[in-house]
Amino acid sequence: METIKDIARLREKIREVKKKGLSIGFVPTMGYLHEGHLSLMKTAKKENDFMVISIFVNPLQFGAGEDFEEYPRDLARDEMLARSVGCDLIFSPSVKEMYPSGYGTFVEVKKLTEGLCGASRPGHFLGVTTVVTKLFNLVSPDRVYFGQKDAQQAFVLKKMVRDLNMDLEFIVLPTIREADGLAMSSRNKYLTPEQRKQAGVLYKSLKHARELIVEGERNVEVIKQAMANLISEAGMAEIEYIEIVDKENLKPLLTVNGECLIALAVKFGQTRLIDNIILEV
Ligand code: PAJ
Repeated sequence: METIKDIARLREKIREVKKKGLSIGFVPTMGYLHEGHLSLMKTAKKENDFMVISIFVNPLQFGAGEDFEEYPRDLARDEMLARSVGCDLIFSPSVKEMYPSGYGTFVEVKKLTEGLCGASRPGHFLGVTTVVTKLFNLVSPDRVYFGQKDAQQAFVLKKMVRDLNMDLEFIVLPTIREADGLAMSSRNKYLTPEQRKQAGVLYKSLKHARELIVEGERNVEVIKQAMANLISEAGMAEIEYIEIVDKENLKPLLTVNGECLIALAVKFGQTRLIDNIILEV
């Protein structure tokens, strides 16, 4: 396994791999790897000849006052974990390598980026779509792997791939969770022990919504209120949003019918956590 920091060397290596006719599976990440990332990497390894990951904390997708500076970074640990699942190449560029001075090109997906996390994090998805386009151009993957955990991100990127005719297969894999149901996230590291204990309530509220719907409840407001009540029992939780949206266009629903996405963002102190489930009615 090789860790590459500069674009010229990456291009050289990718050309070699392509020349051999090997297929490339790619997992973009911001590092501080956990089992969620590793599950994507294991699948990428299984389905391709050559597995590439990127580790880049992308300043463009962080808003003012967000956690770009604090975001956990540990390349040595990430290299060890990546090697353990058969990673062939890590691309870990500097900010200057990705955005040299004078950088001025951005990729924007409209509509799907307006609600949910897009509403509370203006500019976030513009940063994600721009960096992911650059990474796809650099790595030329045959298949790319993303997690359901960041459901809106996966929807937005899938749309970008379709709209811009990117020649790759886009694969979304299930959310990996801790024993109490908390979705794994590099940001869980920020939680105090008390917040960590309370954070289990997020998945509990999603499961509660599923139960209500299975029992026949269809009124979105009633379901959202029940979720909010449950989450509020965790005294340290501050709800940013709870939404039940159409699975195709991410527009808010009034009644549940057909496939829907139930998504939430909740803050514990400064730590913002997101989670979601997809339901078929
Ligand atoms: P990051 O948060 O590091 O996540 C990298 C990938 O891992 C994403 O596709 C994310 O959905 C997936 N992932 C995270 N937690 C997961 C979990 N518990 N189960 C399954 N998959 C999980 O998402 C980003 O980085 C960035 O926005 C990026 C796409 C790299 C662009 O900068």
